[in-house]
Amino acid sequence: MIENIKILPDSLHVKFKNDIDDNFPNIWLRDHAKDDKNWDQRSHQRKTFTAKLDSNLFIKEASIIENGNYVNILWSDSEKMIKYSTEFLQKNLIKKVATHHKYSLWKSKDINDQVYLKYNDVVSDDGFKFFLKNLYEYGFCVITNCKTNMETVDVIANKIGYVRQSIFGGLWEFESNENMADSAYTQEELRPHTDSTYSKDAPGLQLLLCCDYDATGGESIMVDGFKIAETLKEQKEIFEILSNVEVPGKYVGDGVILEARRPIFRHNSKNELSQVSFNNYDRAEFRMENELMLKFYEAITQFDNLANKIEYQWRHILKPGELLIFNNWRVLHGRGSFQGKRKMAGCYINMEDFESICKINNIF
Ligand SMILES: [Fe+2]
Repeated sequence: MIENIKILPDSLHVKFKNDIDDNFPNIWLRDHAKDDKNWDQRSHQRKTFTAKLDSNLFIKEASIIENGNYVNILWSDSEKMIKYSTEFLQKNLIKKVATHHKYSLWKSKDINDQVYLKYNDVVSDDGFKFFLKNLYEYGFCVITNCKTNMETVDVIANKIGYVRQSIFGGLWEFESNENMADSAYTQEELRPHTDSTYSKDAPGLQLLLCCDYDATGGESIMVDGFKIAETLKEQKEIFEILSNVEVPGKYVGDGVILEARRPIFRHNSKNELSQVSFNNYDRAEFRMENELMLKFYEAITQFDNLANKIEYQWRHILKPGELLIFNNWRVLHGRGSFQGKRKMAGCYINMEDFESICKINNIF
């Protein structure tokens, strides 16, 4: 709620009832006018030609209306009052109250039955929202009681967004196969990693459905990369290196050469951790000054040691009909060595589509 306002030459000073105040520049407020003339309500797109706005525009008149829920402004270049809501202004405060993420950072002991959800519940309206909430909170879920065919993967993927095409196709099936170029097809242990460090936009979610299992071993391993970041934050120098050195990833094969680079801990412009990328298999060669290079090796050693510590690893043998879904920007995945037959189906989903379905369902 707005308590009072003051018109200044270049801005509007707004004091809110929770004692927070801010100066909103005229040009910024005018640019965000959401009346019919300046904003297309249907497409949610700006109509204002911002570059053509008068740089000397000023507020002719302003008043608090509707019990402090809105402020009405008459601009020097328009005839009608334009309304701005308290909610909109507070959402755009410079000194914003830190956003509270609904993540639970975890070690294996923190994971209980909450990550197991039945297929029929997940595809129901209420159950789907609960599933999304848990997937967002922990970074992974296991959907049980699935039919062991690719259609299951397709149905779940299309509830969330759509299947992403990649060098591995859209929906894929695989068994251990020595002829394939990628490490994912071997029976040897796969240490925790994230997929597609060679892609500029790594897949947001990965789905893995167990279709057949007649083997010993082969546990799926999940590690919370955000938890590792939290642990390593105490070691300033290590954390800095992992947050700043852009590590190249490379994929060569199947008629493509894919390359990308980013830090192991990528932060957004608000300095919040937004992505963990770590794949020692796909790391490409690069050099830095020797001193920094040696520190980099020390940093990835610490990271990898934590990722391989048993208390950081949630382990579970997927049985036929169980689908593991995880956030590839946060959770590292691995698989224990196995002997026998193991057949999986899966796909990727883009991060923006996962975020979109979360926003639509008010998960964050
Ligand atoms: Fe992988």
